[in-house]
Amino acid sequence: MAIVLHVNGVERRVDAPPDEPLLNVLRDWLELRGAKYGCGEGHCGACTVLIDGMAVRSCQTRAGLVAGKRIRTIEDLSRGDRLHPVQQAFLDEEAFQCGYCTPAMIMAAVALVGERTTPSRAEIVKGMQRNICRCGTYPRIVAAVERAVAAGTSDAGRGARDDD
Ligand code: FES
Ligand code: FES
Repeated sequence: MAIVLHVNGVERRVDAPPDEPLLNVLRDWLELRGAKYGCGEGHCGACTVLIDGMAVRSCQTRAGLVAGKRIRTIEDLSRGDRLHPVQQAFLDEEAFQCGYCTPAMIMAAVALVGERTTPSRAEIVKGMQRNICRCGTYPRIVAAVERAVAAGTSDAGRGARDDD
């Protein structure tokens, strides 16, 4: 039986078992490979995507349970050559080393600034601390989120296509 998922503003029909992890469906069925497999157990956050604007661990989310919800992945953030303010801030602050954690960090940050338009530094640290960066670029990541907040983040993680 097909699952109908609303991904990045488009309805996608997928012939995947409903209990398949959303991460696998995104990567293997829909070829959206920005979200990464890290631990597969909900600890590292490498698989973070947005569901109805909230940061969610897609390795722990059964695809069938999010049918009808708005799923947003890193692939939906930029508009042509224009990066999302959070992406631009990560670039400006060079807030990555190997880059493996970066898509998930950015999605977590988009969710954070969606919940709190002007988070304090302490709120940023707290909001991002569930995402692990093995390269230890945390100070730059925090600086990037602060930069994005200062620049303004108009679409603020509220779901696909809200900034169109
Ligand atoms: S891969 Fe999902 S939390 Fe680590
Ligand atoms: S930049 Fe390498 S894991 Fe974060």
